[in-house]
Amino acid sequence: MDKLQITGGRPLEGEVRISGAKNATLPILAAALLADAPVTIANVPHLQDVTTMIELLGRMGVAVTVDERMQIEVDPTGGIEPFAPYDLVKTMRASILVLGPLLARFGKADVSLPGGCAIGARPVNIHVAGLQAMGADIRIENGYIKARAARLRGARLVLETVTVTGTENLMMAATLADGETVLENAAREPEVVDLANFLIAMGAVIHGAGTDRIVIQGVKSLHGCNYRVLPDRIETGTFLVAGAITAGHVRATHTCPAHLDAVLLKLQAAGATVAQGEDWVEVDMRGRRPVAIDVRTAPYPAFPTDMQAQFAALDCVADGVGTIIETVFENRFMHMLEMRRMGAEIRLEGNTAIIKGVARLTAAPVMATDLRASASLVLAGLVAEGRTEIERIYHIDRGYETIEEKLSQLGAQIRRVPN
Ligand code: UD1
Repeated sequence: MDKLQITGGRPLEGEVRISGAKNATLPILAAALLADAPVTIANVPHLQDVTTMIELLGRMGVAVTVDERMQIEVDPTGGIEPFAPYDLVKTMRASILVLGPLLARFGKADVSLPGGCAIGARPVNIHVAGLQAMGADIRIENGYIKARAARLRGARLVLETVTVTGTENLMMAATLADGETVLENAAREPEVVDLANFLIAMGAVIHGAGTDRIVIQGVKSLHGCNYRVLPDRIETGTFLVAGAITAGHVRATHTCPAHLDAVLLKLQAAGATVAQGEDWVEVDMRGRRPVAIDVRTAPYPAFPTDMQAQFAALDCVADGVGTIIETVFENRFMHMLEMRRMGAEIRLEGNTAIIKGVARLTAAPVMATDLRASASLVLAGLVAEGRTEIERIYHIDRGYETIEEKLSQLGAQIRRVPN
């Protein structure tokens, strides 16, 4: 397994091109199952999770072709087996996104239950309850969700918690249901809106995506389309923090700053000068040490849980004391323990981390525990004295496209080495 080696201490300077959003690509690939003709998807990021979703579609009998620019054609018109096996689902929880589309289009879906994961229990009860309310017969047997429905019926669904993939699964299922579905307390993330736009491009009738009330009128069938995935706001935010933490100056291009309001406010509070255009955004720390900031995660448009670990790294070297409160997932502080090994001063109290910034972190061998945790260790490595080695970087490859190349272009001393 590869490792990342990072020698800290250099301010990052320059431009980085942002890739398409992982969390929009995954539901869009799953939604392609709903069409009765091929769809073409552009701006797809080259990531392990995307490869897993393509493999999952392939195992079901969907023809998927990928060209050298990562433009993907998905042809769901052949004989399809609506089955998502454990060996793939266990490697990627987002595989659950095929449940709604399979059931809506084929009347049947056998999808492995994802099980636990490093950042908490992450149940799928809301996905299941929503489909049941739409008339599906669902049993849990042998570790699988076995769902059946001749045709789903539209329903008014009040989601118990704001869930991103839950909203997406139910919105996809509703596109082919009989009648109107209303999703109350829906997730408002830009990736939900991107999925809705993709479904609309296939002929779905959806209103309200981006608000907490989404209304879907079911149609008989969906057709093919060409679609371009939106830019990755979490990758963007991660590179901006890389600029800030190293007291550097980084511009992210081919992105959408409008999706980063909460993150940009925190960067400004940390002392960065932020400038932005329609499709670019930059932070300039002008050689200064960041000021400690407080962060509380919550569903969009509030501060994203997927940026929590990166801002924790920033607080580790900031001037002052910062408090990080994680309200979305119950066990998302694994990175804090690793950062302590690099000299960070962090006190944990339940879902709160109190971080007293130190003047300098020191390099250490550390272990990536989940996707965003591994990004925060890279950021800590960029400012640590000496050479940090990060193991288990397959986590980072799930969500960041060629991170070491992009950081090297900005002047970081980072390389991937075989273990
Ligand atoms: C998605 C993102 C992930 C991000 C998260 C929160 C994808 C592929 N992943 O994950 O990167 O960190 O949103 O922004 O888009 N919950 C339930 N029951 C359910 C479903 C969820 O109780 O049926 C709870 C979860 O345990 C969690 C909260 O709801 O506490 C939010 O989770 P959710 O939005 O569903 O996260 P994901 O969609 O899995």
